[in-house]
Amino acid sequence: MVLEGGARESFGAALGQILRARGAAQAQIEEAEKSMTRAPVVVAVISSPVDDGRTPAWEQALSAGAVCYNLLLAANASGWAGVWLTEWMAYDAEAGALLGLRSGERIAGFVHLGTARAPTPERVRAAVPERVTRWTAP
Ligand SMILES: Cc1cc2nc3c(=O)[nH]c(=O)nc-3n(C[C@H](O)[C@H](O)[C@H](O)COP(=O)(O)O)c2cc1C
Repeated sequence: MVLEGGARESFGAALGQILRARGAAQAQIEEAEKSMTRAPVVVAVISSPVDDGRTPAWEQALSAGAVCYNLLLAANASGWAGVWLTEWMAYDAEAGALLGLRSGERIAGFVHLGTARAPTPERVRAAVPERVTRWTAP
């Protein structure tokens, strides 16, 4: 589900309302209001598993994660930048209802897409070779 233009502000305002009704601090409310306007396009990736009798729900959930990651790869390959965030709104029933989530549907992530304002700062990366294990017969 794509959020762009004024829809981002509207969704953010509605998120702020949710928090206001719960007595949240003003700073938290304002953060929620601005949460969807960090980038010009936000893609809410929704996992919508179906029981077809053969595809495990787990694999369908993983596929939604793969969609998020592929969006990031595609954005980067095309010269855009992207960030995959969940934050509280991905796990909140009221926020989900705003997006029209049906029973069993879950938000895999909000992928924020746009132009990078600054290079992404480097961070300590996992030592992948140390984490790779090799199975040997017992
Ligand atoms: C499923 C998922 C959910 C994430 N949710 C958040 C989040 O809610 N808040 C946050 O600050 N970063 C979140 N991140 C992390 C950022 O997307 C990003 O990975 C992080 O800023 C580090 O970037 P780097 O891995 O390119 O160094 C999430 C990442 C993943 C994979």
